[in-house]
Order: sequence, then C-alpha cells, then structure tokens
Amino acid sequence: MTDLAALRREYSRAGLSEADLAPSWHDQLDRWLGDAAPVREFNAMVVSTVSSDGRPSSRNVLLKGADARGLVFFTNLGSRKASEALGQSWVSLCLPWVELERQVCVEGTVSEVSREESQAYWASRPRGSQLGAWASRQSAVVTREELDARMAAVEERFPSAVPLPEFWGGLRVAPVSVEFWQGRASRLHDRLRYRLSGKDWVVERLSP
Ligand SMILES: Cc1cc2nc3c(=O)[nH]c(=O)nc-3n(C[C@H](O)[C@H](O)[C@H](O)COP(=O)(O)O)c2cc1C
Repeated sequence: MTDLAALRREYSRAGLSEADLAPSWHDQLDRWLGDAAPVREFNAMVVSTVSSDGRPSSRNVLLKGADARGLVFFTNLGSRKASEALGQSWVSLCLPWVELERQVCVEGTVSEVSREESQAYWASRPRGSQLGAWASRQSAVVTREELDARMAAVEERFPSAVPLPEFWGGLRVAPVSVEFWQGRASRLHDRLRYRLSGKDWVVERLSP
C-alpha cells in the first residue's frame, strides 16, 4: 500500500496578495484561467450538489463560460446533478489546479441559461457528442448493450442535423463567494475571497 501519510510537498511556486487581485472575481478568474491553460483539462471543475434530504454528491464538469453573471456548464437537465442543483438552488464548484498549487472554490445559486445560449453551444459540439447526449438518460442505471442500442437508434433517427434535446442545456452558477487559494510554505497558504455583501463585493483573507 502506498504510504500516503509520508507524502509531503512544500508549496512555494507563488503568493497571492490583496494588491495582486483583479477588481472583480471574474477578472481574477480570467487571469488564473490564463495561467492554467497548460494544465490538461484546466476547465474541469468539481460541482457539488445536495439532495433534498441533505445528501451531498460531487462530480467533474467542464467550465464553458464565465463572466460577471456567473460560471456556466452544460449537462443533461434530468441528471442527478441538475435536478439537485435546480431543486436546492445552491451548488459549490471547485477548480483544482494542484499542479499550480492553486484552487478556486465557488458557492452560488443556479439557474438555467437561455435556450439560445444552450443552442449556440450545442451547435459547436461534434456530432458524436450530440448523439451521445440523445442516447444517454444521464444518471439512470443502464447496461452497455442498452446504451449502444440507444446510440444506434439515435444515429438512425438523426441522419443529418442533430437538434438540441429539450432535456439538455446549460446551468449558470451566480456566485456569492469566490475564493482564490494559492499554496505557500509551511501551510500558511494565501486564501483571498470575494464575497457578495448586499450589492457589493468585499475581499477578505481567510486563515489557511
Ligand atoms: C473531466 C470530466 C469532465 C466532465 N464534463 C462533464 C460536463 O461538462 N457535463 C456533464 O454532464 N458531465 C461531465 N462529466 C461527467 C460527470 O462527471 C458525471 O459523471 C455525469 O455528468 C453524471 O453526473 P450525475 O449523475 O451526478 O448528474 C465529466 C467528467 C469528467 C471526468
């Protein structure tokens, strides 16, 4: 068994001070996304949702847009994550750039993006991904044989253009809190958080 307890690494690549921060959380996120571009799947983020009886679950999705309105990802709207996100309104997101000794953690409320926005993104997807979305009843129990049969059926059903399914679209997370974490020596990491207070964003440093 790997000796996990013995694994130890000092974080020393960089620091993050209040003076370094961009004026808004989304400008700061944009900066860090730029730095993270060499990291494989740097737009992957963990989205955590909670069920109506308080049971949390997490999974990766791909960040597909971010601006002052929030962070957008696309998914099956009947999936576990979408039902829980829309049902409870709140989710958390985490972009884990461990190679850069960084993470960005977000808490916010969820809403569906407009159908026009989902349509525009859908149109940019390869045919295979579009057919896959039609074939998958995401989060439901299935056999591989059923899944392959469903794929064959949708390939036949849509010989040319594949329309946007009504059960598929984008979710936007409007943050109330965005924390930028930079690893530092001796575990005295920098944690700077933009927090929505009324209509204003305040920046606070959190103890590591
Ligand atoms: C790197 C990575 C990126 C992923 N991106 C997405 C995504 O953008 N949308 C999505 O629905 N699922 C994505 N998935 C699959 C999800 O993690 C998850 O398995 C799926 O959405 C079903 O989740 P649910 O049953 O909890 O709703 C991704 C998985 C990985 C590992």
